[in-house]
Amino acid sequence: MPRAVCCVGDRPRPWTGHDAHMTIAAVLTAAGSGSRLGHELPKAVVPVAGAPLVVHAARALLTARAGDGTGVAQLVVTAPAERLDEIAALLGAVVDEAAGDVRLDVVGGGRTRQESVAAGLAELGDDVDVVLVHDAARPFAPPELVARVVDAVRAGHAAVVPGLPVVDTVKRVGGGDASGRPVLQTVPRADLVAVQTPQGFDRDVLERAHAVGSGRGSSEATAASDDAGLVEATGVPVWVVPGDERAAKVTTARDLLVAQALTTGGAA
Ligand code: CTP
Ligand code: MG
Repeated sequence: MPRAVCCVGDRPRPWTGHDAHMTIAAVLTAAGSGSRLGHELPKAVVPVAGAPLVVHAARALLTARAGDGTGVAQLVVTAPAERLDEIAALLGAVVDEAAGDVRLDVVGGGRTRQESVAAGLAELGDDVDVVLVHDAARPFAPPELVARVVDAVRAGHAAVVPGLPVVDTVKRVGGGDASGRPVLQTVPRADLVAVQTPQGFDRDVLERAHAVGSGRGSSEATAASDDAGLVEATGVPVWVVPGDERAAKVTTARDLLVAQALTTGGAA
């Protein structure tokens, strides 16, 4: 069993997995503007297949069941400051349709995704010991992917990411200009994965990683683009489980069209 070390205060303790009951929370990031999508609405509330992206993403999180039957007990959603009430109403309905008691918190996001996740972590209940972080921009991540990530955390991996093989040939390039850049190296593709969400963590490991990396969070230039990156920076190993094409991220208008077509056969 892998053993990462995390710290509670000054006290290091080994992470050996959750042998007994675990309480799972999910931080669902939905506070971005969606500038690359170019829609009049913030990306999380843009409709696809009959519901806003954030609603689809929340349904997947709340439907998932880990191997021991455990589901998400707390959902923390990061939202644009001017849409807190709207998103609370949307997600309140999703929580009501889910089986079991789920605590819902909606918080204003930060300047970057990293700051938004940190704001979400501040809302976690005392009993939470496993945290999923998931992007509303990945509305069709299937519940079995969520379960796969949770099960890997439960098995003893303190930080878990879904990853897919990279299909393109990838090259490292040097400085250039708008007309082109020189290739420095072809990166062996077999060593690469493209990483998705949900990512799953031992709560203490994730909170410590955000505390250590908080100085990076204020600007897009320095902020971590995923939570596992912050954990890696603290020296805790990160484990990759198989990803799922359905968890693709909606970034551009084309991605939205593809998501719509795949879920409804193209009907609006
Ligand atoms: N996100 C967030 N808070 C921010 C920025 C992003 O909660 N300050 C969330 C987004 O809502 C999204 C996820 O992080 O669900 C991934 O970010 P991305 O795909 O980059 O979304 P946006 O930042 O909204 O899009 P863009 O970068 O094109 O503006
Ligand atoms: Mg962004």
